[in-house]
Amino acid sequence: MQRSSNEESAQAKRMNKDLFFPTPIYFTDIQGFEALNRSMKKHIYDWRAADPYGTMRSNMAQLGAWHSPTDMHVRAEYNPLTAEIFEFVHGIYNELGYDNDFEPVCDSMWVNINPRYAYNREHTHPHALWSGVYYVQTPENCGLLYFLDPRAQAQALPPYYDAQRRRAESWHEVHYQPQEGRMIVFPAWLTHAVQPNLSALEGPEGDRISVSFNFYQRRREEHSRSSYRREIVRADLDP
Ligand SMILES: [Fe+2]
Repeated sequence: MQRSSNEESAQAKRMNKDLFFPTPIYFTDIQGFEALNRSMKKHIYDWRAADPYGTMRSNMAQLGAWHSPTDMHVRAEYNPLTAEIFEFVHGIYNELGYDNDFEPVCDSMWVNINPRYAYNREHTHPHALWSGVYYVQTPENCGLLYFLDPRAQAQALPPYYDAQRRRAESWHEVHYQPQEGRMIVFPAWLTHAVQPNLSALEGPEGDRISVSFNFYQRRREEHSRSSYRREIVRADLDP
């Protein structure tokens, strides 16, 4: 028997629902990113020419991928982007209600150049609170960024959903289309990966270029920095 909409709304009124343990993913689009990316691209290719081996992480060097050294945040030529990243991360810490006695500190930032067929394996970013990515060049079909549901137990018996009514909160995998000028910031413990770059473009125009970074917290009045991490806070960017 069909229930009347009155009965349904009466039942809805009795149904309370809490949603705990969220996994927030923040993103923003940087104003004037075209000029920023143009200048960054030049510096990035010069950097790779000077240090062609870079660093080996989740990228596939066998496929020609280049991962720069992780000191991009202390290289002045990238300060315009680093300042934008700090601005956004400060906003996130504030939005989350983090203790204002602690401020965001960045200890690593790097470039990834993925040419055709290169990809990044599933990974997390240990020793960080928040991680992020900024897109410098994203030709068509250059590979989606995807995140996996961190609640492994929730996948032991996945329920059947009505495809028309399935909400984002029930997904077990989330894909983001990379977009030039966009920054995405996510919990550092959240497993993620990048699909293969299947751009049809030849040469540097087909490269997928992104910048990654890691943040945690530091008590504001602390004057000593870790001796083995290249830490900076926002004030360090001021000339
Ligand atoms: Fe990553």
